[in-house]
Amino acid sequence: MQTLPGFRDFYPADCAARRCVFDTWREVARRYGFVEMDGPTLEPVELYKKKSGGELVGQLFDFVDKGERHVALRPEMTPTLARMVAAKEREFKKPLKWFSIANYFRYEKQQKGRLREFTQLNCDLIGEASPAADAEMIALAIDLMRGFGLGAEDFVVRVNDRNAWMQFLAARNIAAERAPDFLQIIDKLEREEPGVTTKKLADYNLTRVELDDFLARPPAELGGALGPLAADLEARGLREFVEFDPKIVRGLAYYTGVVFEIFDRPRKFRALAGGGRYDNLIATLSDNAVDLPALGFAVGDVVLLELLRALPHTAAKLAAATRAAGSPELYVVIADETFRPQALGLIRALRDAGRRVDFSLTAAKVGKQFQTAETLGATHAVVLGAEWPQVKLKTLATRAEETLSHIELPARLSRSNAAARAT
Ligand code: HAM
Repeated sequence: MQTLPGFRDFYPADCAARRCVFDTWREVARRYGFVEMDGPTLEPVELYKKKSGGELVGQLFDFVDKGERHVALRPEMTPTLARMVAAKEREFKKPLKWFSIANYFRYEKQQKGRLREFTQLNCDLIGEASPAADAEMIALAIDLMRGFGLGAEDFVVRVNDRNAWMQFLAARNIAAERAPDFLQIIDKLEREEPGVTTKKLADYNLTRVELDDFLARPPAELGGALGPLAADLEARGLREFVEFDPKIVRGLAYYTGVVFEIFDRPRKFRALAGGGRYDNLIATLSDNAVDLPALGFAVGDVVLLELLRALPHTAAKLAAATRAAGSPELYVVIADETFRPQALGLIRALRDAGRRVDFSLTAAKVGKQFQTAETLGATHAVVLGAEWPQVKLKTLATRAEETLSHIELPARLSRSNAAARAT
């Protein structure tokens, strides 16, 4: 029997690659002062029907549970986060800087970059309305990509301010209530047949030429928050990672201001990440009991791993980290089976000292044991036999070996680890 379409099995190498991604995400998010949170996997379907909007509503994994509640597996974190913030807002000093690493479910067609279960890192900053917060979040998004060795030649953050489109509509007497549907047209502009777009624009009495004229304006004219944002990123030395692009509007309904998406430079893959400002979401979710400006973004694991595996410099790094995560540091080679009890005692002592140690559970030829040590990727072998309490420590890469008492082994290994770290 196979997995359902859009779902993945995680074999050990897949888990190791995922761990490598999660470790980098956590490490970079913490560098920016973010703390980790999480929410439930299942939520009332209403939370998404009212708040996410756009395509997402049609992609919900929803069902009626045994208690007759209409529920959905979470397709995103933002509505949950907004609900949680609104419920306990007073307990936290602003701005809040929260991140989470969790799995999400969307009933999408399985294709390159799109699955039905995937993981996102979400980072959100709540309680700060100034463009400095937009710049801080975009800088974090850039550093998350740089954390994997990706450079400005590999990816780009495309930024826009949704308010520019609101002004565009207002200038043409198009009601603000029609904005969400209109923005869906812009969101799909690069994916949809031109004829279909022209037809949809006609409903708003707009022509493609009018739209293209607006899209061709210089970035300086794009919208209010983008000037200070560009200056802030320039001061951080991160301007080269950013492009201002009015076609970026985001598919979700709750965004209110600056929005952005991250793509690989040659545009071979789907979006790596997306986010923006959602200044009204917390107020609408709490019936105006709590009103806090907010912004955030999410990076997905699927497209990121596709890109990291496709680029030679990041593929090598990922493969090395994946190998290291799965391998023991030490392989204890039992050269004489009569000393197995001593070997078991030594293995326990080394594991108590925090070492990753492996050995053959049954008697095996010495050559076979060394072969296993190499296959597993151990860096050292400890050979134990008739010379006990003396053992041999062998560095597998160089074949260098030394004889020492097993008592000295933990201290000797700490020294060689420190030396390896210094080089
Ligand atoms: P989103 O653009 O829907 O935003 O998703 C963010 C990222 O998650 C995408 O760029 C993509 O990498 C990944 N992703 C989304 N759907 C799938 C899928 N079916 N398969 C694989 N990867 C996928 C949000 O979810 C917003 N809630 C982000 C946010 C946080 N906005 C403010 N705070």
